Amino acid sequence: MFEASTIDTADKVEFHRQLAQQAEGLFDGETDMIANAANLSALIYQMMPDLNWAGLYLLKGEQLVLGPFQGKPACVRIPVGRGVCGTAVERKASILVEDVHAFPGHIACDAASRSELVVPIFRHGEVIGVIDLDSPRPSRFDMDDQAGIERLAEIFAASF
Ligand code: SME
Repeated sequence: MFEASTIDTADKVEFHRQLAQQAEGLFDGETDMIANAANLSALIYQMMPDLNWAGLYLLKGEQLVLGPFQGKPACVRIPVGRGVCGTAVERKASILVEDVHAFPGHIACDAASRSELVVPIFRHGEVIGVIDLDSPRPSRFDMDDQAGIERLAEIFAASF
């Protein structure tokens, strides 16, 4: 049975290296996309401090549809080009929002959210969804987090 080990380091690059290693262990021998998405959201939510939401939205046509997540119930459908998630899909690029109140069109699923990181998931060169992280702390995420979550998105996309 897989057991997540606490990552005890103040070095963010090292933290994300270990988080990626744990994700690889978690997906080892499992190719079910939903199972791996569910475990990915649980791993991130358990390991990264100061999150109030961590999960996936999966692209179905022109809409993102809520996938496995941890946190409060969230909006189910986000059209491409709307909110932080839909904008990340449109741009095919990660979006790091230091203050959600300053992002025009931000969709508030949990009023406690103050900063957000959205990373597209690419598979065979196409965006298939996003990983979305919310924090109640302003400026919670930095470029090391962005690079770390982009790596997790790659590991996830290669798992099924
Ligand atoms: N804030 C997101 C919506 C999803 S929730 O944060 C879970 C957005 O603006 O796309």
